[in-house]
Amino acid sequence: MFMNKCPGQSKKKLTCVWDQTTILPTSRFVLAESGVSISMCEFGCGSGIIALQLAQAFPNLRVFAVDSEPSAIKLAKENAQRMSLTNCVFDVVDVCKTLPSELYDTFDYIFIFDVLHDLHSVKKGIENARKLLKKGGYISAIEPTLNANLQENIGEAWAPYNFGIGLFHCVPTCLKDGAANEGALGPGWGWETTLNFVTEAGFKDVKIVEAVGFKSHMLVRK
Ligand SMILES: C[S@@+](CC[C@H](N)C(=O)[O-])C[C@H]1O[C@@H](n2cnc3c(N)ncnc32)[C@H](O)[C@@H]1O
Repeated sequence: MFMNKCPGQSKKKLTCVWDQTTILPTSRFVLAESGVSISMCEFGCGSGIIALQLAQAFPNLRVFAVDSEPSAIKLAKENAQRMSLTNCVFDVVDVCKTLPSELYDTFDYIFIFDVLHDLHSVKKGIENARKLLKKGGYISAIEPTLNANLQENIGEAWAPYNFGIGLFHCVPTCLKDGAANEGALGPGWGWETTLNFVTEAGFKDVKIVEAVGFKSHMLVRK
């Protein structure tokens, strides 16, 4: 399975280039805005590489990280144990299904890295993120930087890579979980489509804070 090959499994120390460029600076900003001890939920955490790095960098952060793939959560729990972190909890959750109402309005920050386009219902996933977020809370969504207008991607070095991975991994992932009704969009859905989903879910405060390499970071406030 894909997740068993995630970075971190065979390495002693988890590392991720995104921590220096985007994730840590934005999380610091969110922390500063939200107070001393904040709660964060990560959708589609995979091996837990990002959740664990954030939990380590910010001991006052309480992280609840979820993934629909049991093998990913098993690996994430092992990584948490290896890093002796207790402020990061993992669970198997499909973020497109109805979530327990006791989780509503409980998170200051929701983090979604390379996951939105993999969801079998993007609409339901974003609606759920909105439900889980406290008023004034933030969502960081990081997605491949592709244009929904196919020809606009010509000449972009990362476009063939993204379309290839999308066709052979992301689209089958959506279909496996039953995306047939909504359409399995894959990373080629483009930024315009991402923004449409986010604004249709009722978010008004939406910013593209950074575009680094072939990923872009969208910061959304409830
Ligand atoms: C491309 S991987 C990204 C993993 C992680 N965010 C990272 O960057 O290392 C996408 C992840 O989303 C998870 N995923 C896909 N659909 C999901 C859903 N409906 N609910 C929760 N997780 C989901 C997959 O199992 C996978 O771990």
